[in-house]
Amino acid sequence: MADTKVTIVYYSMTGTIDTMARRLAATAEAQGAEVRLRAVGREDAAGAEGSVERPEQPTAEDITWADVVLFGTPSRYGNIAGRLKVFIDSLGAQWANGELADKVYAGFTASQTLHGGQEAVLLSLYTTIHHFGGIVVTPGYTDGSKFVDGNPYGVGHVTGAGNDEPVGDVTNGALDHMVTRAITVSRRLTS
Ligand SMILES: Cc1cc2nc3c(=O)[nH]c(=O)nc-3n(C[C@H](O)[C@H](O)[C@H](O)COP(=O)(O)O)c2cc1C
Repeated sequence: MADTKVTIVYYSMTGTIDTMARRLAATAEAQGAEVRLRAVGREDAAGAEGSVERPEQPTAEDITWADVVLFGTPSRYGNIAGRLKVFIDSLGAQWANGELADKVYAGFTASQTLHGGQEAVLLSLYTTIHHFGGIVVTPGYTDGSKFVDGNPYGVGHVTGAGNDEPVGDVTNGALDHMVTRAITVSRRLTS
């Protein structure tokens, strides 16, 4: 089915969230979804190794267009990165018109340390999604991969000091499962 529209909006400073976002986009496209990959704050955002092209900046229309919206942000003291929050806060008119409701949403994050705020970041993001009237589709423990990466709230990658733990099979498996589940639920809602 080519009808599911997926928008991925993220902020990344040193490339981890960028790598995760591109994996989500590739997996969604492989499933026939139409994908918009959008990065905020690209003036200081480092791309993943080998990825020269920066995605466009998001607009409100990228959100209203989508059936599935995935937000990605590094942990910033256990919270959403300011640049992503500024974009989300710019959606007041669309929120007031009800244009952010009834979509599937999920989030992904990264932190340097194991307890660096990943759950807090995602729960904070979902507070906002509840205000949208969005449908939060978290992975839960709905797949064996979730007992490996251990995050039922979304997907989180631990980078280690100096980003010495690159995104690998465990995180990629969790990303694939999350976006597949989001698309599957969205198709059930819109069919
Ligand atoms: C201002 C600031 C605050 C941060 N706060 C935390 C934190 O509280 N816990 C943590 O583990 N990592 C923290 N980090 C590290 C980032 O979360 C980590 O480098 C990021 O997940 C990497 O994502 P990126 O490569 O996409 O930029 C912080 C980084 C910055 C710059």
